[in-house]
Amino acid sequence: MHDSILTYAKSRYLWISVALLAGSLAAYIWHDPGGLPNGGTWLGYTLGTIGALLIVWLMFFGIRKRRYLNNVGTLRGWLSAHIYLGTCLILIVLLHAGFQLGWNIHTLAFLLMLIVIFSGFFGVYVYLRYPNLMTRNRESATREAMLEEVNEIDLNALALADGIDPKIHAVVLRSIENTKLGGGVWTQLRARDGSDLALDSLHKAIAAREKKQDMKTTEMPTMFAMVDFLAGRATDKQGDAMRKLIDLISRKKGLATKVARDMQYQAMMEIWLYIHVPLSFALLAALIAHIVSSFFYW
Ligand code: HEM
Ligand code: HEM
Repeated sequence: MHDSILTYAKSRYLWISVALLAGSLAAYIWHDPGGLPNGGTWLGYTLGTIGALLIVWLMFFGIRKRRYLNNVGTLRGWLSAHIYLGTCLILIVLLHAGFQLGWNIHTLAFLLMLIVIFSGFFGVYVYLRYPNLMTRNRESATREAMLEEVNEIDLNALALADGIDPKIHAVVLRSIENTKLGGGVWTQLRARDGSDLALDSLHKAIAAREKKQDMKTTEMPTMFAMVDFLAGRATDKQGDAMRKLIDLISRKKGLATKVARDMQYQAMMEIWLYIHVPLSFALLAALIAHIVSSFFYW
């Protein structure tokens, strides 16, 4: 079976982290600070230094990641270590501070660290879960192929609608214009497909045509025109073309839904990094301020 990033190399980094935590905890219990435990004792300094070094090392991951992009095995090892050692920081820093937290720059560093770590948990969750969902959703097609097919269907639908009536052409065109796929991460999260718009109108128009009845005045004006057209003047050939158009747009709807979902999954896999990475820089700044100020007021 393929190793997950959590069980990489027989969970090597989990055990290293457990050993690090057990050692720190043992030292904390054994140590007699001669007062309240805090960051200023020798153990406090030692744990603080371990914490600071870990943070700097964790931040190097971005550089590592780009350097190892061609060597996925190594990258997975780094990520596994990143996750476990990063999580260790919570306890190490609490022990460093002797569990004394106040409203100050030190605690700001601690809070930023917690946000970075918890956003990391979310990252692990999406990394473990979303690739499978994406594969299942795509059903072996690529996103490019799906998008290409969507475009092709759009063109065919427009040509078909054009042959029926300009008003129907307008409805189809509007539904295409209302389909928003792609763009930046935010747009991807809100990806949408306008096919329902056209399908709704077309279905209602066909139903009305079959029943030869008028629509209520609350319906949209374009639909009015269409129903009017279909109920009155349309030939059977045009009715067939309408059904074909519905088939086409339904197929497009299925595809566009898949593409939108694919984009949303990918956006979710990226969006948390917009918290994780910038806040890790804020953390580094707060940490430097913390260390400098600790020495100042020593
Ligand atoms: C070289 C690394 C570090 C040094 C030299 C250091 C130094 C100190 C010192 C001297 C104190 C005691 C301050 C006091 O009692 O007023 C302290 C407390 C503290 N440190 Fe550090 N520290 C380091 C790393 C870290 C790291 C990595 C974090 C977390 C991001 C952190 C968070 C805290 C917190 C939350 C306190 C408690 C502040 C309070 O009493 O309100 N420190 N540190
Ligand atoms: C204070 C602690 C941490 C710092 C400073 C930190 C920093 C970073 C940095 C700089 C990156 C590189 C992102 C990039 O350039 O694309 C990264 C990636 C990542 N971090 Fe952290 N991290 C920390 C803790 C954690 C924790 C605790 C976890 C998980 C539980 C975690 C999970 C991840 C994941 C999954 C990635 C993405 C790897 C990828 O895109 O291939 N991080 N982190």
